[in-house]
Amino acid sequence: MKEVVMTPKNTQNGWFDRAMRRLFNALDINPHVEGDGRLNVTSVLRIYWESLQKLSSVVVMIITLVAIASVIGIIVPLYYKDFFNVFAKGLTAEEAGRLLFGAISTVFALDLFSLVSRRTAMFKLIRLTQAVMTDLRARAFDHVIRHSHAYYTSVFVGALVQKLSRFQRSYDRLADSVVFHIVPTIVTLIGVVIVLLRESPLLALAMILWVVLLITINYYFARWMLKYNVYRAALDSVVTGKTADMFTNQAAIEAHGAYDIERARHLEFTKKQMHVAAFTWNSGHLYHGFQEGSIVLLRYVVFCVGIVLWMRGGFSLGMFMLLHAYVFAVTEKIWPIGQVIRDIYESFADAKEMTEATLRPHDILEIPNAHVFANVEGAIEFANVTFEYGGKRVIDNLSVSIAPGERVALIGPSGAGKSTFVKLVSRIFDPNEGTITLDGIDIREATIKSLKQAISTVPQEPTLFHRPIAANIKYGKQDATDEEMERAARLANCHAFISAHPLGYHALVGERGVKLSGGERQRVVLARAFLKNAPVLVLDEATSSLDSESERQVQEALMRLMKGRTTLIIAHRLSTIRQMDRILVLDQGKLVEDGTHDELLAKEGMYWKLWTVQQNGFIPDLEAANEEGVQDESDLFLA
Ligand SMILES: Nc1ncnc2c1ncn2[C@@H]1O[C@H](COP(=O)(O)OP(=O)(O)OP(=O)(O)O)[C@@H](O)[C@H]1O
Ligand SMILES: [Mg+2]
Repeated sequence: MKEVVMTPKNTQNGWFDRAMRRLFNALDINPHVEGDGRLNVTSVLRIYWESLQKLSSVVVMIITLVAIASVIGIIVPLYYKDFFNVFAKGLTAEEAGRLLFGAISTVFALDLFSLVSRRTAMFKLIRLTQAVMTDLRARAFDHVIRHSHAYYTSVFVGALVQKLSRFQRSYDRLADSVVFHIVPTIVTLIGVVIVLLRESPLLALAMILWVVLLITINYYFARWMLKYNVYRAALDSVVTGKTADMFTNQAAIEAHGAYDIERARHLEFTKKQMHVAAFTWNSGHLYHGFQEGSIVLLRYVVFCVGIVLWMRGGFSLGMFMLLHAYVFAVTEKIWPIGQVIRDIYESFADAKEMTEATLRPHDILEIPNAHVFANVEGAIEFANVTFEYGGKRVIDNLSVSIAPGERVALIGPSGAGKSTFVKLVSRIFDPNEGTITLDGIDIREATIKSLKQAISTVPQEPTLFHRPIAANIKYGKQDATDEEMERAARLANCHAFISAHPLGYHALVGERGVKLSGGERQRVVLARAFLKNAPVLVLDEATSSLDSESERQVQEALMRLMKGRTTLIIAHRLSTIRQMDRILVLDQGKLVEDGTHDELLAKEGMYWKLWTVQQNGFIPDLEAANEEGVQDESDLFLA
């Protein structure tokens, strides 16, 4: 199918733009949207159609019923015409009465039929809309939730929620426009022209000219407005995203008493949003004024023509009634058409962002007939792996091989790439170069699900669902029994604090788990990992927020859990690290040291330095720091 792309008509610096913006005091508006503001109508419609086609018979039925009601709207005035012409015929009261009753009864029957058709269409439409909106949202959600972590770190999550709702609503608006306006308007226009051609070709011609002119102008106007509508929708998402970000960072705002700064920032973008909205509203109203004028003119011209025809004879009273009814019907349909076209354009503009998110291919892909990991032994190998975050190299040509059941500690300075390294193992990111294998199989050639099932991860910054604690722990194993869950909770040393809560395991944890302390949250996620019981264990600073006593207890449980499992552990406490079979030291994405605790100490390298510092209980090695050009102690904290 050929792609239909709506491209905003003029450039924003066309004479019309300048005139309009000057008129409405909006010269500062610069409708810039990411990309070129182009809107692929075909892709939006295709997504809608994929949901609609499941109910295509209902679609056909609704359109037919609405068309029938509109056709009746054309036929009824013909009976009224006959009705009024009866009076001019000079019949006896009885003869006239019979004809009049005949005409009005037919009108009554037709009106009833029209009413039933229209209402049936409405009920069907509600069912259809409900089904399609649910399906659209479900499909969009299903695709977008599968986007990678990289995607989620580059979008405003708050705005995403808004885009999803807007996407769903835009379908509703579009469907309403088609059913309530487009179909009745087309049927009415064709019907009126057909009847008028028979009754008075001159009037039919006037009507056709007027309609064509008005629709053409409407189309160009709406197309001109498109870029402002797309801009407005994009601005809307940005505002939502920024506002959500402020609410998310409420604690920082409070801590710094930065209410005034944030209020000003919020006001600034709200004002901008309103300014753009006002411009589009103003332009719309100006256009409406023009359209209103043309309708007044049409009415005047058509009746003037009618009078002339009547003066020449051959134009009846009934014809005036017919004309009145048709002019009314046509103007009634055309009147909102500008709004309807703008609604349609706006719906597309609203759907644009979510459509792009829905059509955007996933970063982490699964090949067809992928391998399914089962009975994983846990041999992990990195072969010449390089990974970059948007051009910034974080893992640099790294090769390492980890034996099944080996317990490996990853250490190195902050930003060395430790978290990134472990994220690569579970395919949160794919490397730019090189391969990573699990049990000798390239992890890109296995199913994503089986890979994730093979790995238990405790991330560095865990978040929880705003669901009961029980549900959060059972996230590691959805079908776990309460006993299994409690056992895991005990191992992770969180049973005590959960039981102390009045609601116990049913307590809600707040959005992202904010109602728990850092250490509590960490233990809940640890319990999840215990419950998951996967052959590969990845712990990224999993106990960093615990007090020494809790940590000691959890550590014991962890050591037991690690037995027989390949473990990658990122930790700061050297007492934990030295218990591991092997230590990998990472620096700037490179593997700089690799060996056991004793081997690395003997080397007197980076590990040895860290060890000595922690042993001696002080951090800054001032002498070394001075050599590197650090001016004074405070610089160490800035570094
Ligand atoms: N999502 C991201 N987008 C862009 N850059 C990132 C992203 N995540 C991490 N980085 C960058 O990659 C580098 C390595 O980050 P990583 O989280 O792997 O470090 P780390 O060794 O775990 O450090 P820490 O000990 O502080 O946790 C850092 O310089 C960081 O700024
Ligand atoms: Mg990290």
